[in-house]
Amino acid sequence: MPRWHDLGDVDRFKAPLTPVEVGKLRLAVTRVGEKLGVISGVCNHAGAPLGEGRLEGEYVVCPWHGWKYHALGGQGEPGYEADAVPTHAVRVEGGRLLVDLDPATPRTRGKHEPHPLARRIERAPGPVRVVGISTTSMDAANPRYSTSEALLEVALSHAAGELGAETRTVRLAALRFRACEGYYSKSARACTWPCSITQMDPADELDRVYEAFVHWADVFLVATPIRWGAASSLYYKMAERMNCIQNQITIANRVLLRNKVAAFIITGGQDNVQAVAGQMLTFFGELGCQFPQFPFVAHSRGWSAEDMERNIEYVMGSEELRDGARMLVARAVHSAGLLLEHERAPEAVARGGRKAHHLVLRHGGGAEPGRGEGEGEPG
Ligand code: FES
Repeated sequence: MPRWHDLGDVDRFKAPLTPVEVGKLRLAVTRVGEKLGVISGVCNHAGAPLGEGRLEGEYVVCPWHGWKYHALGGQGEPGYEADAVPTHAVRVEGGRLLVDLDPATPRTRGKHEPHPLARRIERAPGPVRVVGISTTSMDAANPRYSTSEALLEVALSHAAGELGAETRTVRLAALRFRACEGYYSKSARACTWPCSITQMDPADELDRVYEAFVHWADVFLVATPIRWGAASSLYYKMAERMNCIQNQITIANRVLLRNKVAAFIITGGQDNVQAVAGQMLTFFGELGCQFPQFPFVAHSRGWSAEDMERNIEYVMGSEELRDGARMLVARAVHSAGLLLEHERAPEAVARGGRKAHHLVLRHGGGAEPGRGEGEGEPG
């Protein structure tokens, strides 16, 4: 027997899309021309509220990552029909819109191969692995000397040659990657692991950094110039995209970076080394990294130095700086070795890392993995 429920005056549903809730059941009332329909208000992908999306032609577009469902039939867009959300029968009676709370069609899910980054994190046996991340921004067609990258190269070659580590270099300037588009600002659960952008845009190349950070490296050696008292803009562009790693701690109690050590090389013409280092330390600490004793080396010419050509000369000629870079990576590799030996880092932490409290979500309160899916369906 249908379970008809009165949603109210039909004139309330003049917009193409109206979210409604009946108890725990989340629905989206759709209007395509003169036709009214009701589909589930919960997206198949990560549980977004479909009623808060938008109508594009005859398809409801999910407000989080853009999956589409037919506004009247519930099926996914052409090519993805198997990804369907439930539909509900409707009728108008005496100017009121009635909906059958029992779905007329079921929720079905198409097959989606998980993104390679989503695989289980398992450190393959082998020596300590160091990834060097160069965040300096240069014109590839007109290469010139970068003090931060030069010291990074010294450190990596020492790690490979003298310390027996495996090394890999990632130059952010050589990668094409999008800026963070703030999925977290839509909802904590809209910021997914792997990153929403990485999953949606195969041309985005930040997957190489995620791969190195989460699956490959034990040591992250991040080199940055100082730009107006801060780390480079490419560093921040990368850091914003790392929210998906930190957010797993918050929403899923899952620590993706275990037994990882971060250390930094900071160079600049003028000053603010400690502020740059402070920000970087805090950020990588929030991701779950550990630090060696004395976790950065830095060089700056001081506030009044404008003779930057001399700065390059100085760095090129400074054996002390090169030694500093070598000793930094040695401390980091040593720390990583100790961590790997003792397996001390936690896989999970007590609720949300430093925040230590339950995450309050608008729909349902809890934030366990997968809880959003199908949430609010009848029964
Ligand atoms: S597309 Fe709907 S939650 Fe991701």
